[in-house]
Amino acid sequence: MDHIKAIAFDLYGTLFDVHSVVARCDQQFPGRGREISTLWRQKQLEYTWLRSLMNRYVTFEEATEDALRFTCRHLRLDLGDEACRTLCDAYLRLQPFPEVPGTLRELRRRGLKLAVLSNGSPHSIGAVVGNSGLRAEFDHLLSVDPVRVYKPDDRAYLLAEQAFGLARTSILFVSSNAWDATGARYFGFPTCWINRSGNVFEEMGQTPDWQLQGLDGLLALFDGGAGASTQR
Ligand code: LAC
Repeated sequence: MDHIKAIAFDLYGTLFDVHSVVARCDQQFPGRGREISTLWRQKQLEYTWLRSLMNRYVTFEEATEDALRFTCRHLRLDLGDEACRTLCDAYLRLQPFPEVPGTLRELRRRGLKLAVLSNGSPHSIGAVVGNSGLRAEFDHLLSVDPVRVYKPDDRAYLLAEQAFGLARTSILFVSSNAWDATGARYFGFPTCWINRSGNVFEEMGQTPDWQLQGLDGLLALFDGGAGASTQR
């Protein structure tokens, strides 16, 4: 790993748990929180990909709100404007996965440059990272907003190469989203897939260079490989 000088992290689902909105959803719609959260996330992603294909960019917050409105209509739940605001606000206050703060601190201590590279807007990335107290761990918070196209488009990944001023081969890309790890690998980043739930990887012509069960596995990887595995 000596050639790796910097790490770009996906945000949602990788550093922060998107399903930390379940409790807030349950308050609004008792017993339906998990179901709402799962469909909401799936639709949010679909809307970003579809808007990129259609060349009809809206910000991640707008796509997130549209996805929530669809989800509630689909589940025949009456989402008023106030509940919509409350739930979208919960997306700005997601919880980091437990091992994340300590791992980021340790990676920085080892001299690595760190960035977030997310489909979130500058506002949503700033809020999520800021609300968790982790802002100081990152050299860059990179949103795709300036290029108005979402990952997994190459133009989005290019933002990290430009911000670090390093060749892509010396930037490790870390994501728990298999579609994102696939795009990053096609772009040319060495790529680590964080697979916390024992999922299978996508069938899209790529495999990640490393697969880990949690972010803390990165420390062993930089120490020489213990605990890391490749995925086929
Ligand atoms: C991100 C989401 C889409 O880019 O996972 O942070």
